[in-house]
Amino acid sequence: MEEILELKEIRKSFEGFLVIKDVSFTVKKGELSAIIGPNGAGKSTLFNLITGYYKVDKGLIHYNGTIINNWETEEIVRKGVGRSFQVSSIFQEETVLDNIKMACLSKMKATRNFLKKVELFEKVTEKSLEILGSLGLDQQANRYAYELAHGDQKLLDIGIALALEPNLLLLDEPTAGMSPEERIQTTRLIKKLWEQYDLTLIFIEHDMDLVFEIAEWIRVLHQGSLLAEGKPDEIKKNEDVISAYLGDDHIWET
Ligand SMILES: Nc1ncnc2c1ncn2[C@@H]1O[C@H](COP(=O)(O)OP(=O)(O)O)[C@@H](O)[C@H]1O
Ligand SMILES: [Mg+2]
Repeated sequence: MEEILELKEIRKSFEGFLVIKDVSFTVKKGELSAIIGPNGAGKSTLFNLITGYYKVDKGLIHYNGTIINNWETEEIVRKGVGRSFQVSSIFQEETVLDNIKMACLSKMKATRNFLKKVELFEKVTEKSLEILGSLGLDQQANRYAYELAHGDQKLLDIGIALALEPNLLLLDEPTAGMSPEERIQTTRLIKKLWEQYDLTLIFIEHDMDLVFEIAEWIRVLHQGSLLAEGKPDEIKKNEDVISAYLGDDHIWET
């Protein structure tokens, strides 16, 4: 097994309140997994720790075998950890295509600086259109971002993350605020993107049906601790998970 991410007993508190309590787990390269747990369980905080927005109080975060605890977010992103934001990174006054192009350009400038300017811009356009195509946003390429419906803004945000060519992509509630139909479509799209871009992908999702539809592996976070992890079938049968959540639908409401 080749692992891409390993959390070792990480801990985080805010103003004396312990939010992440010695969480440990290992993520295999190429895995498509979900993190579930009620509001306030610490899911977003976990993503913020992995991406360096917050620093852990204790414990280790290994990414591709390197300890990244003290790395700045920019550096972590450059090494291939992408994420979509609950507060999005979209430039509302730019077009959909330009939003993707800006992200592509920043990545390509950093990694393919041997290219001539013309070649670079051609590649940026080509790759941006490809990303918009995979998101089903190609028809919207020349609209301003602020003109997009909420669901499409969420997709554009994922597109910006993809443009940075992540190996590990973290999606925090990618279907939040969408209609039931859009949520199903987006969940299937996430699986498609995972395959197409050869990603290791972790998503946070409240809707259990959606999680069970695509996740190969599920981690349950409960009051800052890892309550259980396993394959969907194992999680469905897990006594701790059942007694804590599955019998009680309303607890999952946002
Ligand atoms: N920057 C912060 N300052 C203080 N408390 C925070 C901060 N970020 C998160 N928390 C607290 O940590 C807990 C977990 O939050 P969060 O990770 O957002 O949960 P989830 O994403 O599972 O709903 C909550 O009690 C929240 O209020
Ligand atoms: Mg959250």
